[in-house]
Amino acid sequence: MLPAIEKRRAYRALDTRPIEPEVLLGLIEAATTAPSAMNNQPWRFITVTESERLNALKETLSRGNYWAKRAPAIIAVVTNNRWSMQLGERSYAPFEVGMATMALQIQAVSEGLSIHPIAGFNADEAKAVLKIEEDDSLLVLLVLGYPGSEEGLSDAHRESEHSERTRLPLDRIHAFDGWNQGMKREGSA
Ligand SMILES: Cc1cc2nc3c(=O)[nH]c(=O)nc-3n(C[C@H](O)[C@H](O)[C@H](O)COP(=O)(O)O)c2cc1C
Repeated sequence: MLPAIEKRRAYRALDTRPIEPEVLLGLIEAATTAPSAMNNQPWRFITVTESERLNALKETLSRGNYWAKRAPAIIAVVTNNRWSMQLGERSYAPFEVGMATMALQIQAVSEGLSIHPIAGFNADEAKAVLKIEEDDSLLVLLVLGYPGSEEGLSDAHRESEHSERTRLPLDRIHAFDGWNQGMKREGSA
């Protein structure tokens, strides 16, 4: 499984070719496999492909996300803390939506798609375009497309298409049996 998961990268070089509706629905099917407390399923997805709505959504992108304008589809990921379990300050909805979104992304990659989550957009404007209620949270947009040309990407983004994955070492993010068992804190040697 790890090699399949490792194939997912936040690529930006997208083709404008449309994505088949059955492929898009397969991504949502994958998302629904995620676990959630009491099976609350606090995830909602809006898949945008219709050109007028898609263009309006693209108007809300931050300048650095110019590359997403080529996407033939964008999936909006919506949740609300009230839709799942809350135990004190622990709100499980975003955790569960994250799990669902990861399954969705792995399915996208298995269909040969690039899929790139972004937070860089004007959420109020995007919610208005998609008719999402004010009280709900539009967490991310998933920018979708078959892999395409790097033409039009900035130098940094072109370079990033071929960069190694950068991650914290395991001893910064994991310990066996207790935090004091060797997990390094930020700033420690
Ligand atoms: C919540 C979230 C928000 C992100 N927002 C943006 C964004 O606005 N623009 C962008 O180009 N990438 C965005 N990314 C992609 C990350 O920069 C990328 O996943 C990270 O650098 C790790 O690279 P990798 O996914 O290729 O391993 C976002 C990712 C997540 C999970």
